[in-house]
Amino acid sequence: MEHIKAYYLVEIRSKKIKKIMNNLKNAVIKYYDDIAGIYNIKHGVDLYGCEWGINKYYLPLIQHFVNKNSEILEIGCGTGKYTGILKKNAKRICGIDISPKMIDVAKKSNSDVRFIVGDSEKLLDFKNEEFDVVAGFNTFSYYPNKLDALHSINRVLKRGGIFFDLDMNGLCPIYYILSLIGINEMKNWYRYIKESTIKNLLSVFNEAGFDIVYTNALNWIPNALNRNAVLMLAPMNSILSNLPLIRKFAMRIVIVGRKR
Ligand SMILES: C[S@@+](CC[C@H](N)C(=O)[O-])C[C@H]1O[C@@H](n2cnc3c(N)ncnc32)[C@H](O)[C@@H]1O
Repeated sequence: MEHIKAYYLVEIRSKKIKKIMNNLKNAVIKYYDDIAGIYNIKHGVDLYGCEWGINKYYLPLIQHFVNKNSEILEIGCGTGKYTGILKKNAKRICGIDISPKMIDVAKKSNSDVRFIVGDSEKLLDFKNEEFDVVAGFNTFSYYPNKLDALHSINRVLKRGGIFFDLDMNGLCPIYYILSLIGINEMKNWYRYIKESTIKNLLSVFNEAGFDIVYTNALNWIPNALNRNAVLMLAPMNSILSNLPLIRKFAMRIVIVGRKR
C-alpha cells in the first residue's frame, strides 16, 4: 500500500514539474516569436558591438575549434547570425530553435541551410552520432534542464565531437542588474542564466560525458552599442580583461567540451 502511495506521489510531482517546464518553454517561444522581427536590432545582433565581439573574440575561437568540412548542428540558432558564420566552412549545417518565428527570420538569410523548429534539450529530430560539432551562441544558458540538454548533445555528436558553447556569463553583474530592472528576457530567465558559470558548467559537462578542452570569460562590450560607444569603451574592455580577478565577471563565457 505504502509503495503504491509513494508511486502516485512521484507521478503527481513529475506531472507538476512537466507542467511548469512546459509553461516555461511556452513563455520562451512567445517572447522570441513576438520579437523575432526586431530581434536583430533589439538584442544588438545587427549592431556594431556584436560585430566587434565576433571579430575580436568569437571568430578566432570558432576557427580554432570548428574544423573545416565539419557536419554542424547549431542549437538555439535564433535569427541565424552565427549560422551564417558557421556555414562558410561547414560540410553540412543544420539549425534548431524552439521559436518558429525566429526560424522564419533565419531562413530568409540562410536559404541554403536546413532549419528545424524544436527543443535543443531533446534534439528529437536527430540521429545518434550525426554531427562533428554542436555549437550554441547565447542559448544554452536559457535551458532549465542543462544536464538533459548535454546528454542530448552528447548523443548526436560523433565520438571526439565538439560542443562549442559561447554564452552569457551568469557571474556578470550586468545581467543581474538587467534582471532587477526587468530589461529584455532577463527578468524571466535570469534564474537559469545565472547557472551559466564556468564552474557549474564544468561539472555538468563532465557528468554528461564531455572532457573540457577550453574555457574562458571574455568581452565587456554589450552587443547593442554603436561604433563610437564601442571605440570609447574598448580601452576599458582591455583593462578589465587583463585583470584576472575581474575578468571572470565578463559578459560572455566560452566552454568547449569534447565527447569522450
Ligand atoms: C538570445 S537568443 C540567441 C539567438 C542566437 N543564437 C544569437 O546569438 O543571435 C536565444 C535563442 O535560444 C532559443 N531557445 C531558448 N530555449 C530553447 C530550447 N529549449 N530549444 C531551442 N531553442 C531555444 C530562443 O528561441 C532564442 O532564439
